[in-house]
Amino acid sequence: MGKIVIAIDGQSGCGKSSTAKAVAKSLGYTYLDSGAMYRAVTYYYLQNPFDLGDAESVSRALENVDIEFRLNPEDGSQLTFLNGENVEAQIRQMEVSKSVSKVAAVKLIREAMVAQQRKLGAAKGVVMDGRDIGSVVFPDAALKVYMTADLETRAKRRLRELSADGGVYSLKEIQKNLAERDKLDSSREESPLVKMEDAVELDTSELKFEDQVNFVIDLARERIEKE
Ligand code: DC
Repeated sequence: MGKIVIAIDGQSGCGKSSTAKAVAKSLGYTYLDSGAMYRAVTYYYLQNPFDLGDAESVSRALENVDIEFRLNPEDGSQLTFLNGENVEAQIRQMEVSKSVSKVAAVKLIREAMVAQQRKLGAAKGVVMDGRDIGSVVFPDAALKVYMTADLETRAKRRLRELSADGGVYSLKEIQKNLAERDKLDSSREESPLVKMEDAVELDTSELKFEDQVNFVIDLARERIEKE
């Protein structure tokens, strides 16, 4: 039985990462969070501002950006490292969320991230989540899932996550950020978020977490058998 690539795309906060993580764990696959890479570049940009509209400045900045994923020895979760520093907590902050769509729209930045994502997924046996995984990064993925959930449900879930991490945010602020990112991520020129024709749509608004995970695992097993 061969290994496959599972691409999970969808709007911000619809449960892609938690679903992808659980699916990867159950299949013994590697989970890769492509959004964490755009978040890490955004964190770098906020610390070391450069002109996003100028190709030379962007190229120079990218030369100084080294993103790596390492496993947390305590619980096996994925940690994002930027230039050797663990930035996992920093990249989840609202400050980064507010600028990430702007940074992720830059062509040169996307090209660099996509190249690294393809390398990370080359051996297959991966579940990668993002916005353009099924359309650009792995257009031949054996399983593509397009996840959705209504805005209010997504905002409530994200508020719970951020509060659990000690953040103090209002539902309104989170809802506004998600709506703004949806708009920018779907309307940008460079690989916008789209539902591919061969993607299976999964609306999680009314689903229990366990059911959405099992839905993807069942599809994955079917596709793995065919490999
Ligand atoms: O998955 P996330 O919400 O952590 O992603 C953060 C941002 O990064 C998201 O608003 C858009 C961008 N992104 C992207 O453009 N392409 C991807 N493959 C993943 C994320």
